[in-house]
Amino acid sequence: MSDNEDDASRREFLTGVTSLVAGMMVTHAAAAEEGAVTPLPAPKKTMTTVLVTGANRGLGLHFTRQYAKRGYRIIATCRKPEQAAELNATAAANPNILVERLDVVEHTSIDRLARRYQNMPIDILLNNAGIGGGIENQLFGHMDYEVFYEVMAVNAIGPMKICEAFREHVKTSKLRKMITVSSSQGSIASVTMPMLYWYRSSKSAVNMLMTNLALQVKRRGIIVGLVTPGATATDFIAKEFRKRIKNIREPEVAVADMIRNIDRFTLDNTGTFFNHDGAIIPW
Ligand SMILES: NC(=O)c1ccc[n+]([C@@H]2O[C@H](COP(=O)([O-])OP(=O)(O)OC[C@H]3O[C@@H](n4cnc5c(N)ncnc54)[C@H](OP(=O)(O)O)[C@@H]3O)[C@@H](O)[C@H]2O)c1
Repeated sequence: MSDNEDDASRREFLTGVTSLVAGMMVTHAAAAEEGAVTPLPAPKKTMTTVLVTGANRGLGLHFTRQYAKRGYRIIATCRKPEQAAELNATAAANPNILVERLDVVEHTSIDRLARRYQNMPIDILLNNAGIGGGIENQLFGHMDYEVFYEVMAVNAIGPMKICEAFREHVKTSKLRKMITVSSSQGSIASVTMPMLYWYRSSKSAVNMLMTNLALQVKRRGIIVGLVTPGATATDFIAKEFRKRIKNIREPEVAVADMIRNIDRFTLDNTGTFFNHDGAIIPW
């Protein structure tokens, strides 16, 4: 490649990134123009409350169902509530499930939702939404660099922003937990073969963000935790790949394990990264 071609490709990449960021800013601006938010009144009944992202399918839907079975209140968020048939059916049968629209890359919307629920303590803030980025977009020699921004925005920056926006809701609750669904793929110490550059990096990044946060908020009595389901049969893993994974797990079981681990978090083990079997995953 000549210097000119090099420059041209660098320019093209930077233009792409600039439009991506500009696009996100337009989305933020549009959301900001939607008008003032009327906060919901303080709930009459004190109930353990969980906010889940990506609650319309996969692990998020199972978290919603399993926490609802415990009698908790769930703020079940998803990008397109109007298309969330299974979640809506679950919510129709349980008045403690409140379905809300939330795209974790839209920071203004996160702030708006936080204002809407400003009178409601949130016991467990559960960052579950995540994307893999597509195997084909992270093959060395064919890397799609714009996808890296998207994966980081959803898997790392989104959870950070949600923790920041909802910190007072968690602080005023009883359990005071900020939990993120990470992945053993984000464990640098465990990596043995190269793959999933973007996805793995985003999970390493969220692990570091949450480690920092754990140190930051411990004195305020807030617990920060990382959990992982293990390889689980959701849309996250294409059906043709599932057969190749030994001992792939069912989502109901993976979520029950994560809930058990979330229960184990205290201020003494804040910042820990629990595997589904309860072992601590090395960074
Ligand atoms: N399944 C596994 O083997 C496995 C293993 C380790 C870790 N994990 C982690 O577990 C979490 C849940 O994964 P899953 O298996 O349930 O995957 P999934 O079935 O693909 O579901 C992903 C969920 O994230 C939502 N989402 C994606 N982008 C979003 C955004 N910008 N804003 C809000 N929601 C968004 C999706 O909503 P839409 O329907 O709108 O796309 C969907 O609800 C992820 O963080 C993943 O990294 C999964």
